[in-house]
Amino acid sequence: MERTLSIIKPDAVKRGLIGEVVKRLEQNQLNIVAMKMIHMTKDQAKGFYAVHQERPFFESLTDFMISGPAVVMVLEGDNVIARYRELMGATNYEEAAEGTIRREFATDIEKNVVHGSDASETAAFEISYFFNSFEIVN
Ligand code: CMP
Repeated sequence: MERTLSIIKPDAVKRGLIGEVVKRLEQNQLNIVAMKMIHMTKDQAKGFYAVHQERPFFESLTDFMISGPAVVMVLEGDNVIARYRELMGATNYEEAAEGTIRREFATDIEKNVVHGSDASETAAFEISYFFNSFEIVN
């Protein structure tokens, strides 16, 4: 069993896509074991994306992530990190495979609807960034 962090980003929440994303998670047996809506502060967004702090898009990315509420979830299942990344599609929606969430709904490389952890170490950091153990169901 593996866990990963999923974020439905502010662009998707504003556009009424929470249900669309959750439906795809459920249809693909990506089990939701924790879920909440948050509105990040700039410091929280900067801490979450600290790994990107030297990138030219860091300021814009963190501004985008605080532009409205987001939904954060913990997903659990066999090989869930890779399976969820496949469902999301490539970061750049123009390169994402047909039928993926980003290919169908993203409008921009930054406003790309969803986030998912890229490896087990990042998943552990990202899950603990938003959830404590009491908030994750067994
Ligand atoms: P995410 O998977 O959340 O990880 C980092 C985020 O930075 C990414 O999705 C995009 O929202 C954003 N991002 C990545 N590359 C770029 C880029 N070249 N320009 C702007 N934003 C980017």
